[in-house]
Amino acid sequence: MPQAVTAGPVTEFAEDVRTGLGKWGQKEVPFKYLYDAVGSALFEVISLLPEYGLTRAGERILRKYAEEITARILSPVIVAELGSGSGKKTRWILEAIARRQPTDYHPIEISHSALTMCRRELEHLDSVRVLGFEAGYLDGLRKVAARRQEGQHLLVLFLGSSIGNFDRKQGEQFLRRVRRVLRPGDAFLLATDLEKPVSQLLRAYDDPLGVTAAFNLNVLARINRELDANFDLSCFRHAARYNAQERRIEMHLRSTLAQKVTIRKAGLTVAIQEGETIWTESSHKYSPQEVIEMAGRAGFECVGQWFDYEWPFAQNLLIPA
Ligand code: AVJ
Repeated sequence: MPQAVTAGPVTEFAEDVRTGLGKWGQKEVPFKYLYDAVGSALFEVISLLPEYGLTRAGERILRKYAEEITARILSPVIVAELGSGSGKKTRWILEAIARRQPTDYHPIEISHSALTMCRRELEHLDSVRVLGFEAGYLDGLRKVAARRQEGQHLLVLFLGSSIGNFDRKQGEQFLRRVRRVLRPGDAFLLATDLEKPVSQLLRAYDDPLGVTAAFNLNVLARINRELDANFDLSCFRHAARYNAQERRIEMHLRSTLAQKVTIRKAGLTVAIQEGETIWTESSHKYSPQEVIEMAGRAGFECVGQWFDYEWPFAQNLLIPA
């Protein structure tokens, strides 16, 4: 066996892959690794698919209600966005705020390429200054909070419904952590995808063109590229399932045969059985009332909810309770 296989993992990515794929039960890879340059670009394509109404629903709400939503936010304010992605859906909120005051906007992204897209998309808006942070959600948020000046409020945007990636307990915990960074007078605009017919969800997460399948499989390609692994992508199939108990879509990669894979930089060789899956992402679906209650337990008051009815979806405005 080559020396490097027995050496310990060298990066957080290697460490997480080692832990996730080394599990006795359900193997998993944390969802954040889906979003490298290829994954972020594929997600942009997903958001254009007719079957995936989620991104457009969120954007419709913001386009329609940006004035009403931002009227509830105190000035002067600086804006932080968790996982900005391309920044397209942010435009409406930023424009509404920048009509009132010059605005510092801080997108926070783990994907360097998404941050670049976002800067290009929004740096030309009148009275908007873009300063991005390549960081995780909470690290980035704390950095932005540290930059605020006396008297400035903070508006945190979490617009894509990525809260759904966390399970319900982790999601509430995440809200609590965001809450700890905020002060009275600040605000948190939180998007949540809502429960809808399972057939509609399955089409959205297993589209006929295979874009979501490519998005999912890319995580194995990324592990090959960055961690010197030998996944054969043709031996895995994308699978989207609805877990009714947890009310979430789960994405898995199912092995079509018994195989062994070596991830050299994670110091790991794993045996995978025929039919066994690697769990790569969850997307939880909420009820409007549940969001209010969850926010309440995390120290927020929900002062407004705006809905899209074509693709049930909510933008929720939370303030420190
Ligand atoms: C970016 C997390 C909101 O959960 O719907 C889309 C990611 N995964 N298709 C979602 C995703 C598969 C998406 N979020």
